Amino acid sequence: MKHLISCKQYDNHEQLDGFFSRVEEANKIRYREGIRLPFGHVAKDKIMATLFYEPSTRTRFSFETAMHKLGGNVISSDSAGQFSSHAKGESLEDTIQVVSQYADVIVLRHPEKGAAQRAADVQGSIIINAGDGDGEHPTQALLDLYTIKKRFNKIDGMRVALIGDLAHSRTIHSLVYLLGLYKNVEILLASPKEFSLPEQLISHLFEKRVRFAPWYDLRKMLLEGRPDVIYLTRLQKERIPPAMLINEPEWSKFSFGNDELELVKEDAIIMHPLPRLKELATCVDKDKRAVYLNEQVRCGLEIRIGLLCSFFKDTTL
Ligand code: NCD
Repeated sequence: MKHLISCKQYDNHEQLDGFFSRVEEANKIRYREGIRLPFGHVAKDKIMATLFYEPSTRTRFSFETAMHKLGGNVISSDSAGQFSSHAKGESLEDTIQVVSQYADVIVLRHPEKGAAQRAADVQGSIIINAGDGDGEHPTQALLDLYTIKKRFNKIDGMRVALIGDLAHSRTIHSLVYLLGLYKNVEILLASPKEFSLPEQLISHLFEKRVRFAPWYDLRKMLLEGRPDVIYLTRLQKERIPPAMLINEPEWSKFSFGNDELELVKEDAIIMHPLPRLKELATCVDKDKRAVYLNEQVRCGLEIRIGLLCSFFKDTTL
């Protein structure tokens, strides 16, 4: 795999399971004679460019932290839409060709679906898609799946509830592709009707024979569906025409707080890619089932360390 653009690039779960084992191995803290060793120099003399045309906290910081831990260097534009030559009218293709002369890997976030593929088509550096509009966000899905795998020690047979703006959430789109590679996974889709999963993903679920069902009532879904994983997402306001935003009361039916928490299984986990808005109340944070501010974030760093090791072909992996 030269680039990571879409979760459709994975065609079986063995690839993912193998990758997750290598991620665990790459993140093992090593000691020699009682002294904690750094992660090594996998990325020594390598440069990563984080080229972000949209805001980010976790994705950019965790990629940059991963690169630093691996002994590499980072060049960064966190507001590329405003501060790169894009503002002067430069095309994405030209920018990628130029940045490829400086950096070995480009982590790209862009508001347009398909932008990461366009960047990869330029034939420059390694491209990692860090979110392309309402398309995909493959590294988030890898870390989400890894979080589930670490907690339950399996993915097969899991009941996963995907809640919120299923139409525009790129993290959900990528996660759906990955979940479809496992056996007997059941996906519960909870959203207002007009924010349902796009047709292309529904067809994919049919094709992969994944059991799934839409729910238009969150509490009923929690009570009757008994999911193991509750995965919440925010309304992607920046991707929605203003006319669709007026239905706030309908939207509030899909928010999660203390009352919903009571309906959740004791051993379930509650996930969110963050940032959260009103759909996930802060009172849930202290619950032992909530992993979005701790475990899930740590897994994000681990996955990105593992990914960079794979791209830089670390022989210890
Ligand atoms: C997500 C994204 O950018 O798609 N955030 C993230 O990377 N963790 C989710 C979101 O913005 O809602």
